[in-house]
Amino acid sequence: MSSPSLSALRVDNLRKAFSVQGAEFVALSGIDLDVARGEFVCVVGGSGCGKTTLLRIIGGLEPRFDGAVLLEDRAVKGPGPDRGFVFQEHRLLPWLDVQGNVGFGLADRSAAERNQLVAHYLELVGLAEFARRYPHQLSGGMAQRVAIARALANRPRVLLLDEPFGSLDALTRIRMQQEILRIWEAERTTMVLVTHDIDEAIYLADRVVIMSPQPGRIRQVVPIDLPRPRDRSDYGFTQLRKLIYAQFFPQSQLPQDYTI
Ligand SMILES: Nc1ncnc2c1ncn2[C@@H]1O[C@H](COP(=O)(O)OP(=O)(O)OP(=O)(O)O)[C@@H](O)[C@H]1O
Ligand SMILES: [Mg+2]
Repeated sequence: MSSPSLSALRVDNLRKAFSVQGAEFVALSGIDLDVARGEFVCVVGGSGCGKTTLLRIIGGLEPRFDGAVLLEDRAVKGPGPDRGFVFQEHRLLPWLDVQGNVGFGLADRSAAERNQLVAHYLELVGLAEFARRYPHQLSGGMAQRVAIARALANRPRVLLLDEPFGSLDALTRIRMQQEILRIWEAERTTMVLVTHDIDEAIYLADRVVIMSPQPGRIRQVVPIDLPRPRDRSDYGFTQLRKLIYAQFFPQSQLPQDYTI
């Protein structure tokens, strides 16, 4: 566990229950997580185990929960510019062009500062020459890069990404994984990324958090001590893939792909 002063994010004994038709449904229970500053954490787990709920709570979008969520030692009570969110679908505003979308959360900055931040983050995601395009004129991968630029332009301390590449084709997805690593290496923003793709998690993360369902809990945390950039055919990579996959399907044959 990292010391509190180096901790970007701490979740202590988190429990979240929803009321469903008068009955209590426990979505998350006993969640403890400590994310160091600048760390890249990936969260994997089957559908319904509470990954989105966990990110939403950290993001301040789900205000009622038991336990504590601390951002740089301050309790999370609602959304704030210290956390950026990237969703599976890009959620760009269709009536604004790319630069308008990236600058959307920067209304309190001077025009010069806003323009400089927008230019920096469009450059970072490789879309400087697409600043005047509208969302419907972008490919899925481009739109997702704009969404990442928009989230980063607010200079969040923690970037929360909920299956950000889930809707992209396999090739674009691999390119985006390389992109997000490049961005992380340039900015050193703390990242928490949810994915169903075990390879994606091993490729990106310093640690992979494995969740189990009903109620959602952390089953295991796997450190990924492989140098970057990582090679998916490397021995260490394939061993980790087997280890994590076995957490989900202990009895089964090795699959064609490692999505859960
Ligand atoms: N607002 C809500 N009211 C009631 N139940 C909810 C609500 N939001 C989520 N849940 C339940 O909490 C559980 C966790 O949902 P969540 O969306 O966090 O799962 P997930 O791990 O993100 O799944 P997926 O991989 O399919 O996105 C699910 O059983 C879901 O039905
Ligand atoms: Mg989800």
